[in-house]
Amino acid sequence: MVPFLLLVTALVAQQCVEAVESGQTCDVPPSMWCSSPAVAKACQVEESCERYLRKIGDAPAPPVSLTLYYESLCGGCQKFINEQLWPTWNKLSPIMNLTLVPYGNAAEKKRFDKWVYECQHGKQECVGNLIETCTLHMLKNISAAFPFIHCIESRVEYSDNPKKAAEKCASKMQVDFSAIEKCADGSQGNALEHEMALKTGSLNPPHTYVPWVTLNGVHTEKIQNAAMDDLVKLICDTYQGPKPDACTPSTATVCVRD
Ligand SMILES: *[C@@H]1O[C@H](CO)[C@@H](O)[C@H](O)[C@H]1NC(C)=O
Ligand SMILES: *[C@@H]1O[C@H](CO)[C@@H](O)[C@H](O)[C@H]1NC(C)=O
Repeated sequence: MVPFLLLVTALVAQQCVEAVESGQTCDVPPSMWCSSPAVAKACQVEESCERYLRKIGDAPAPPVSLTLYYESLCGGCQKFINEQLWPTWNKLSPIMNLTLVPYGNAAEKKRFDKWVYECQHGKQECVGNLIETCTLHMLKNISAAFPFIHCIESRVEYSDNPKKAAEKCASKMQVDFSAIEKCADGSQGNALEHEMALKTGSLNPPHTYVPWVTLNGVHTEKIQNAAMDDLVKLICDTYQGPKPDACTPSTATVCVRD
């Protein structure tokens, strides 16, 4: 008992000497040792406090901007949304700045005071693009809009009827579809869709297919392939801040009893 106490005392004494040298003393109770990076350093518990300090640490790094250019009835877009984007968003939304641009390979022509759209997969695709564009506008917040858009894009039983899919999703998710529908059927939706056309048209390099992604505003074949293969990894590798837990692949082969 006595030798153990002596050892502890000696350790504490040594820590205090080193801490004083660094200008900050460890003169707070153990419950406060993780209260700031400086105190943690002084108390020589930086490593143990690391996880905690991350949360209260300095200004976080900017989120990774990911923009998806897509069209509502394109099978490859649906696959990307359902298999990559949605699961990634659920894990990493706090470090992502997601922008959706539903237009894709459509074309537009001005007729009188209105835009007339022609969509790759026919009229229904234009309906879907409009509903999703209006969703982004009406729900404002991507955290509210994306779950609804994901729902529409994953309703395979209504894959040729996006309006029906949207109605089903709206009642399931308690989204006010009447406001979205009003937007989509009127001049507001028509003008908003034109903004999507302009965003898509200003891509550099211009898109040659959809789904087409940009990462922090940049598109390369390498980025595109990385996004298609493993979007979680791409976002984690790009993020400059401390990696969230979802970035650590689970390699555990056993489950430890706690
Ligand atoms: C989010 O992305 C949009 C579109 O790329 C960009 O205009 C905006 O500045 C980004 N915001 C942040 C916080 O990075
Ligand atoms: C955005 O939507 C999410 C999910 O509905 C909600 O939790 C959050 O408070 C909203 N943020 C803002 C700024 O409205």
